[in-house]
Amino acid sequence: MYKAEIGLKVDRTRCTRCGLCVADCRNKAIIADPESGYPVVADGGAERCMHCQHCMMLCPAGALSVDGVDAAACPAANQELPSYSSLLNLVRSRRSCRDYLQKNVEKEVIAGLMDAMRYVPTGVNRRGLHFSLIDDLEVMEQYRKRTYEKICAMKEAGTLPENQIRLYEQFMEGSDPVYRTAPHLLVVSVAEDSFCAEADPLIAVSYFELLAHARGLGTVWFGRWMSMWRSLLPEMKDVMGIPEGYRPGYAILFGYASPKQKFVRVGCPDPVPVNTVTADNLKNY
Ligand SMILES: Cc1cc2nc3c(=O)[nH]c(=O)nc-3n(C[C@H](O)[C@H](O)[C@H](O)COP(=O)(O)O)c2cc1C
Ligand code: SF4
Ligand code: SF4
Repeated sequence: MYKAEIGLKVDRTRCTRCGLCVADCRNKAIIADPESGYPVVADGGAERCMHCQHCMMLCPAGALSVDGVDAAACPAANQELPSYSSLLNLVRSRRSCRDYLQKNVEKEVIAGLMDAMRYVPTGVNRRGLHFSLIDDLEVMEQYRKRTYEKICAMKEAGTLPENQIRLYEQFMEGSDPVYRTAPHLLVVSVAEDSFCAEADPLIAVSYFELLAHARGLGTVWFGRWMSMWRSLLPEMKDVMGIPEGYRPGYAILFGYASPKQKFVRVGCPDPVPVNTVTADNLKNY
């Protein structure tokens, strides 16, 4: 499941034997060599290493490399984080977009978002995610057309389930109730043997959504794709190139929002219910 090797390299001319890397490794995959004090792979460490790269990122001397990555090639952690108010603004101003410009998002913008996906956390650092992308308006148009052809054929054959008839009617009225006119689609799939198979793809989609919003793109979570894939058109998945052993985790539509979707104020949803646990809650525990 994980890589077979840690690929640990310690530059002894730089290592001060401070022990920070060894102390941080929760899996005890590396230990301080009893004689020299330099970090070395523990017995069975390669199997326990979860390739989090924490040891490498913590090393003040830049002496340690794992996974065949040269520590010197990793950029310094930028401490100039966005302010809380700027992040809050990002979260509060995000809205589901259901009306898009019929234009492709620039390939480099999409490539940047996809590259950012390598930083999303996954349970036990399994990283069993796969991303299927429609980045071309015309491909999306074909996909959209085929979906509605199938829905119309089912309606004509009398096999369209009652709870999907509205979908057909909305399409016949000239709207796009499934794809919401979006030019792009991302489906995040997950390896079935992932420890946190439910959570991992949802985290990735959440990160994607906020990053896309920061890039000036509209997005909408695509629950309808999930339900249609599960119960109406299972073959919707086949075009997405999802590898054997993976299943769709969640989907999201994105693109540039049409000017009609320019939200000029944030909404005012109800506060969420919160129970702050007190000693009283623990009495019968
Ligand atoms: C898991 C999930 C699935 C969703 N699926 C769809 C969908 O298939 N189609 C759609 O138009 N909106 C979908 N939405 C958008 C929600 O309806 C929307 O988030 C909600 O109405 C609140 O609006 P907001 O996102 O603008 O805050 C989905 C949202 C979530 C979180
Ligand atoms: S953190 Fe760096 S300097 Fe410290 S022991 Fe580990 S490799 Fe050596
Ligand atoms: S990559 Fe993570 S698990 Fe592996 S040796 Fe380093 S700290 Fe330990």
